[in-house]
Amino acid sequence: MPDLFSPFTLKGVTLRNRIGMSPMTMYRSRDGQLDDFHLMYLGARAAGGFGLVFPEQVAIAPEGRTGVHCAGIWDDDQVEGHARVTSMIKQMGGVAGIQLGHTGRNGSELRPWEGGTQLPPDHPDGWQVVGPSPIPYGAPKRPHPVHALTVEEIRQVHRQYADAARRAADAGYEWLEMHFAHGYLGASFFSPLANQRDDEYGGSLENRARFHLEALDAVRAVWPEHLPLTMRLGSDDFHPLGTQFEDSVVAIGWMAEHGLDLADVSFGGNTDDMVDPFWNDASAWVAKAGRVKRDIGIPVATSWNLGVPQNADAAVRSGDVDVVLLGRPALANPHWPVWAARELGQESPFDLVPEDWGWWLKNFRGHAPSIGWPEVAGSGSDDVADDVAAFEADLAADTPVGDDVPVPAGALRR
Ligand SMILES: Cc1cc2nc3c(=O)[nH]c(=O)nc-3n(C[C@H](O)[C@H](O)[C@H](O)COP(=O)(O)O)c2cc1C
Repeated sequence: MPDLFSPFTLKGVTLRNRIGMSPMTMYRSRDGQLDDFHLMYLGARAAGGFGLVFPEQVAIAPEGRTGVHCAGIWDDDQVEGHARVTSMIKQMGGVAGIQLGHTGRNGSELRPWEGGTQLPPDHPDGWQVVGPSPIPYGAPKRPHPVHALTVEEIRQVHRQYADAARRAADAGYEWLEMHFAHGYLGASFFSPLANQRDDEYGGSLENRARFHLEALDAVRAVWPEHLPLTMRLGSDDFHPLGTQFEDSVVAIGWMAEHGLDLADVSFGGNTDDMVDPFWNDASAWVAKAGRVKRDIGIPVATSWNLGVPQNADAAVRSGDVDVVLLGRPALANPHWPVWAARELGQESPFDLVPEDWGWWLKNFRGHAPSIGWPEVAGSGSDDVADDVAAFEADLAADTPVGDDVPVPAGALRR
């Protein structure tokens, strides 16, 4: 039975473990470019042991961004910045994934810490938002009119997905996720709350999934066959008139026939008016992902509240989830996988960091707390409180600290 630290192979790609850094919008790009910030931030997570590392939702068109500070890959000029990042992630032992997205009616926004409100189309940093139907997400945050895409414009979006996927392959990404969740364009086509079209893209479940299936076809035609093609699907709007989870399971089955290699199960995000969403429940999305895996028979991933290593490990051991995606824990701790490896009793957690660092950390004279290595939760012998007490006693007695620390065989002496 695999655990959190078992390698995971999907198509021609093997992750060193089942831990992925979930895509997180950073609002740090200019003209959609990735730069030194992204190199530092993403390289650090790969060096910290994450098996799969995503930057943020990367826009397939300028008007597919959340706001003007978001990353993109709509232009060949943007490939180089992405290539620097993928090269660094690879050097640090990770696999670089890209999440391609179009924000649809949830774009043209200020940054969250500026209020996050939607800017009108005539604002210098705003644009005309688009969706399946002319239904704004809603006041107070997103009150502006939505342009309903024509069929020709939908085809253009699919071509933009394909062009972006080709650039992603050129940039060295080895895992592609389409972001069709969280209220963005794909999620809105799937949800009856946002999609009230009366043509072949609206109405029945089959019609509401057409946008997804055609997007998959367009991307699969250019994305190398040996590399994973995945989707984050808005699988539940938590609203009686919105996307229903049972429909999502059926649609994922169709997607698997159109080349979907893994489903990343998340929420719909098409309304704020949700009934009993389980924001703080660590196991709810795991159970839903497990249901998709069992019914459809393709690998699955999920995120949400899996920052406790024992829970993340249990999600994999239960067989429900193949890859655990961590958002906020990855922000909080670039070395989360190393820490988790120790918490879970892995034999050699420092094997996860680059070999040269690992050599120092495994061999330098010292004991765990002295190298800034947190205690194992609940362990008695290595307890930091005991260590601090001993340290203070040594200082008070004016004796050199550390003389009693055993030096491992072959360890470097300094
Ligand atoms: C700062 C921030 C930015 C995010 N941006 C994205 C994004 O670009 N694409 C996406 O699919 N999810 C995004 N998310 C959601 C995360 O990928 C993840 O699904 C969510 O935070 C739940 O995982 P967690 O409980 O481990 O944080 C974002 C979350 C955070 C905290």
